[in-house]
Amino acid sequence: MKRLGILLSGRGSNFEAIADQVTGGGIEAEIAVVIANRPSAQGLETARQRGLNAVLLPSLGMERVAYDHRLIDELNRNSVDLVCLAGFTRLLSADFVRAFPQRVLNIHPSLLPAFPGLDAQRQALEHGVKFSGCTVHFVDEMLDAGPIVEQAVVPVLDGDTVETLSARILAQEHRIYSDALRLVLSGAYRIEGRRVVRTAG
Ligand code: GRF
Repeated sequence: MKRLGILLSGRGSNFEAIADQVTGGGIEAEIAVVIANRPSAQGLETARQRGLNAVLLPSLGMERVAYDHRLIDELNRNSVDLVCLAGFTRLLSADFVRAFPQRVLNIHPSLLPAFPGLDAQRQALEHGVKFSGCTVHFVDEMLDAGPIVEQAVVPVLDGDTVETLSARILAQEHRIYSDALRLVLSGAYRIEGRRVVRTAG
């Protein structure tokens, strides 16, 4: 059974969607550890309530590479095979990416490469796009830039606010993160340059 490590900073709804799939048998893996970098992260409390191994590693004031080595140690201590960033709002160093090559996934609330970085839903709304969505991608050393595993498209409606658009995107995030995890856990893909190509399994 493959072992997942979840990294989060806040609400943790993507983590919960993944945890529901694991509990319900929709994802064949176990959540080995949930790590939060902020004491106030709601996701940390949720993980505790679910009886998961929930670890707080505060990042405030810590130098990036030093912090990332603490993360790497905690993930390795829990024999994590695959790392899922689920609203983890800290940029990871090259050391971290190299410690888990092509084994870190992230979810981003836009159709990358459009609107990387913070406030992607607000960026989409302000740009005036008619469609936006979300992306699950492998993490490389650039921000929101690695090979794309899954995407989902949602319409942007005339009456949308950041909140309504975010909610429409979030529902799709919860669906495609699990879809992406199933694919990656199955091993039925290969990475060709930037492209994640499905194989016969
Ligand atoms: C999501 O919109 C995700 O795409 C982004 O941060 C948000 C996290 O939400 N990276 P949650 O903590 O999973 O509820």
